[in-house]
Parts: sequence; structure tokens; C-alpha cells
Amino acid sequence: MAKNLSNSIRAKGTLIAIGILFFSCFVSFSLMTILFLVLYHGDLSISEAHAVFGSFMFVTLILCVALGGSLLFFAIRKISDPIIRISNATKEVAKGDFSIKMDYKSNDEIGVLTQNFNLMTTELGNMEYLRKDFISSVSHEIKTPIASIQGFAEMLQDKELSEENFQAYTNIIIDETKRLSHLSSNMLRLSKLDHQFIPEITKQFSLDEQIRRTIVLLEEKWSKKNLELDIDLEKIVYTGDEALIQQIWLNLIENAIKFSAESGTVFIHARKISNKVIAEIKDQGIGISKIDQGRIFEKFFQVDESHSKEGSGLGLAIVKKIVEIYDGEIDFTSEIGQGTTFVVKLPFRN
Ligand SMILES: Nc1ncnc2c1ncn2[C@@H]1O[C@H](COP(=O)(O)OP(=O)(O)OP(=O)(O)O)[C@@H](O)[C@H]1O
Ligand SMILES: [Mg+2]
Repeated sequence: MAKNLSNSIRAKGTLIAIGILFFSCFVSFSLMTILFLVLYHGDLSISEAHAVFGSFMFVTLILCVALGGSLLFFAIRKISDPIIRISNATKEVAKGDFSIKMDYKSNDEIGVLTQNFNLMTTELGNMEYLRKDFISSVSHEIKTPIASIQGFAEMLQDKELSEENFQAYTNIIIDETKRLSHLSSNMLRLSKLDHQFIPEITKQFSLDEQIRRTIVLLEEKWSKKNLELDIDLEKIVYTGDEALIQQIWLNLIENAIKFSAESGTVFIHARKISNKVIAEIKDQGIGISKIDQGRIFEKFFQVDESHSKEGSGLGLAIVKKIVEIYDGEIDFTSEIGQGTTFVVKLPFRN
């Protein structure tokens, strides 16, 4: 009860008002009595005593109003001061200043409001930082291929260009265009997933067939590196958004191929265990250092800049989002020079 009172402005305000009223009345009655005792001699008629008493009453009323009014003024100022400060701080936030913090410690509603206000400005500050960081990463990713396309297109205008150089430059332009297209579709996909995307097209499909189709889709890449594939896929029927789930295998297998050395082996296994699908994609490639392991799911993060030409660092961020949408889990183990194993667990849904 006492805690509730100290935590509520309404209760505190009422108590203060009653206190002030009581105090003012007490002071005025005491004054009235003292004045009456000092000034009344006992030889006044009833009407004279009435008049004296009336004047005392008037004086104490004025005193009471003045005293009570000033006490109330200070009490209300104490309550309204932090509200005015919060209002001014909100104006600053509206102008875009998220560094603003309020200093007011109390357990009452204004104290809670101040805490929430500080929390809000901290969160807005973080979001602003992420937004700026995202924009600078996107601009960097777009600027590089565009500069390269522009440069090689200008070189194509050279009338004396040999056939061999013509082929080389056009190939670079085609590659860079593909890279831009890959980047924009990944960014679109991620922004859709970031905005509370709910899969619409949910149907039953064969998950093992889907993984096999993905492997075929990536044939050019793994055969170019002369990689061996160890495929072990149990028959699995899964319900979900087929195209979306395929993105998981596409990104993980593509990474396993990309970060494998020539003639290595990529293992692709999937099985059902009770109410879950467990898929494992393992490579014997370059591996990921302990320091970088904590960052690989971040948007635009790439360990090795020399591989940055072959992607933009969005693949794993997309995979993680999709796995989360399906209430699944994604884990990995990795060792430098030994390889990496990703394990995806997807629960079956009705
Ligand atoms: N199997 C792997 N072996 C070694 N490093 C990996 C592996 N998978 C991911 N990584 C590291 O994590 C980074 C992020 O992976 P991610 O798939 O998000 O991006 P990417 O493959 O570089 O580009 P994108 O997927 O957008 O084409 C990679 O650049 C790489 O450094
Ligand atoms: Mg990738």
C-alpha cells in the first residue's frame, strides 16, 4: 500500500493537497485563536465581538489562501517541471537528436516515463546507426561494380580493340551486371523478410528432391572446382514456402563450394529425427576463425575481401531469417584450414 502510494503521482498529489489543506487550516485556526485571545478583553458586546471575530476571520482567510496557494504553487511546480523537461526533450528527438537523455530518478509514473524515454532514445540511436551503416554498405557494394562497368564500357569504345580484349571486357561487364542483379534480389529478399514477412504459399513438397535440384542448379560451380559430393538424403515431405526454403540450401551449398579448395569434398546430408528435419552441409574448405565466427550472420559481413567479388555477404543473413521464420535453428562449427559444417534444424509444421 505504502509502496503503491509512493509509486503513484495521483496518490502523491492527493496526499500533498490534503497535507497543505490541513496545514493551512491548522495555521489559520491557531492564528485566529491567538489573535482572539490577545485582542479580546471580555468587555465587548455580542455585536462588537462578532465584528472583531469577523475581521479575524477575514485576516486568517487571506493568510490561509496566501500560505496554501504558495505551498500548492511549489508542489505543482515540482510535479510539472519534469513533464515540461520531457516535453522539450521530445521536441529535440523529433528534430533528430537521439543523443538526448533525461536525468530524473523516482519510482512514480514520471520516473517510469523518464526511464522509457531514455530507453527509446537509446534504441532510436542504435537504429539510426544501423541504418547509416546499412546505407554505406549498400552504396559501397553498388559503387564498385558500377565503376567497373563504366570503365570497361568506355574501353569498348576503342575502335582498335582486339577481339580477345573485347571478349574479356564484355565478360567483366556481364559478371558485374550479374553481381548487381544478385545483390539487388538479395536486398529485396532481406528487406521483405525483415518486415515481418509471413510465408503465403505454404504447400507440401519433397525436401530431399528440393536439395537435389539445388545441387544440379549449382553444377557449373562445383564441377569447375572438381569437387566431390557426398550426398545422403532421406525421403522427407515438408510443408512450407518451397521457394523460400530453397534459399537455405542454395546459400549454404553455394558457400560450401565457394570456400572449398579444388578437389575437396562437400557433404550434404538430411534426415528426419522425431519432429524435425536435420540438414548438414559440410565442407573441407578454408574455415572461419574464432573471431569472425560471431559475425558471419551479419548483413554484408565477409571474412575475406578477396572473395567479396563472389557475393555481398547477405546469404547467411537471409538463411538465418528464413530458419527463424520456420522456428528452426542454425548452428555451425568451423576450424581454419579444416572446413565448416552448418547444421539446420527445421521443425515439422501442421
Ligand atoms: N562454408 C564456409 N566456409 C568458410 N567461410 C564461410 C562459409 N560460409 C560463410 N563463410 C564466411 O561468411 C561470410 C558471409 O557469408 P554469406 O553467405 O553471408 O556471404 P557471401 O557468401 O560472401 O555473399 P552472398 O551469400 O551474398 O553471395 C562469407 O563471406 C565467408 O567469409
Ligand atoms: Mg553466401
